[in-house]
Amino acid sequence: MNHIIINQDIHKAFASFFVGRNYSNVLVIADEHTNNLCYSRLELKKSLPPHEVFEIKSGETEKNLATCTLIWQKMTDMELDRKALVINIGGGVIGDMGGFCASTYKRGIDFVQVPTTLLSMVDASVGGKLGIDFNGYKNHIGVFQVPASVIVSNRFLETLPHAELKSGYAEVIKHCLIADKAKWDDLTSHDWQKIDFQEIVQHSITIKDQITTEDPTEKGRRKILNFGHTLGHAVETFFLETPNRLLHGEAIAVGMVCESYLSFLKKLISLEDLDQIMNYLIKVYGKVYLPIEKFEEIIKITRQDKKNEFDNVQFALLGPVGHCSYGINISEGEMKEALDYYNQLG
Ligand SMILES: NC(=O)c1ccc[n+]([C@@H]2O[C@H](COP(=O)([O-])OP(=O)(O)OC[C@H]3O[C@@H](n4cnc5c(N)ncnc54)[C@H](O)[C@@H]3O)[C@@H](O)[C@H]2O)c1
Ligand SMILES: [Zn+2]
Repeated sequence: MNHIIINQDIHKAFASFFVGRNYSNVLVIADEHTNNLCYSRLELKKSLPPHEVFEIKSGETEKNLATCTLIWQKMTDMELDRKALVINIGGGVIGDMGGFCASTYKRGIDFVQVPTTLLSMVDASVGGKLGIDFNGYKNHIGVFQVPASVIVSNRFLETLPHAELKSGYAEVIKHCLIADKAKWDDLTSHDWQKIDFQEIVQHSITIKDQITTEDPTEKGRRKILNFGHTLGHAVETFFLETPNRLLHGEAIAVGMVCESYLSFLKKLISLEDLDQIMNYLIKVYGKVYLPIEKFEEIIKITRQDKKNEFDNVQFALLGPVGHCSYGINISEGEMKEALDYYNQLG
């Protein structure tokens, strides 16, 4: 189990983490936005033992070895020993990279994830996957290591740009579709923007925690978390090279529609279920234009997916809603049909 503290009052959350713990030194890692809008705005300094803050530029393009070198150098300059603590305050970029640096520095020191985006609260900070991008390959270098704690407060969402909130919400939808039908029905009957985020974050974290605790290194059931991500990730990668880049969740929303269609094609969900999922996702995310002449290129990207085994493109598919199976082989023809289905939606 991940050690997770969820508290609206972030100061109380930190206080409860530090009870009975004694660290030789503390390094806070944040990006330019989270340093200002999270660390400073919420006066986190008051709740932490003596520490230094290391600020890095924000953005996925910074999640690389060059930035790690700067972080490891900072740790070295501060003479952090193995009883030191790293606190990562930020979205998935800071969490993945700060956690990776902490778990490799002197063979590993404690680190705490303080996720500040919805995506990092419900997804990136739970489950122990850490790493960086390398020569254009996403999350290519990394380790599995669970943090000493994940400290979650929805106070951070107050400053999160709306587009980022919506992007993170795609993972919330995914968790309901793969693991909780009742909650899925509940989501679809409300305006998503009026949702109680404190409650939904707690719910989503519990699902991710259960699945990743059961299968920490993705040998089996953890693969269900990839629902929507095989075609979704291919669509995301495809648009990276174009002026119409998509946020991760926007691409995963496309992926979830396509992969729900595949679930229907494999007779795992009914047509009514497919319609309900498609309608909800299109209502929240709108429709992305996928050029038909680029389908082949998009499908080709799925072959590079880290989740594939023995050259087969394997999918996690829904069925029935609230459950998910993994390791399902899908042909290129079927993938094309799913993209066609998406394109023909009104
Ligand atoms: N480890 C995992 O299991 C896992 C799972 C999913 C995603 N990820 C990784 O997570 C990363 C994406 O994470 P992300 O979407 O959080 O992106 P991010 O860390 O880049 O944050 C998005 C943007 O929001 C800003 N921001 C963060 N918190 C803010 C706040 N409270 N107020 C205002 N602005 C804020 C950031 O500075 C950044 O500009 C990717 O690198 C992805 O690979 C990892
Ligand atoms: Zn995702």
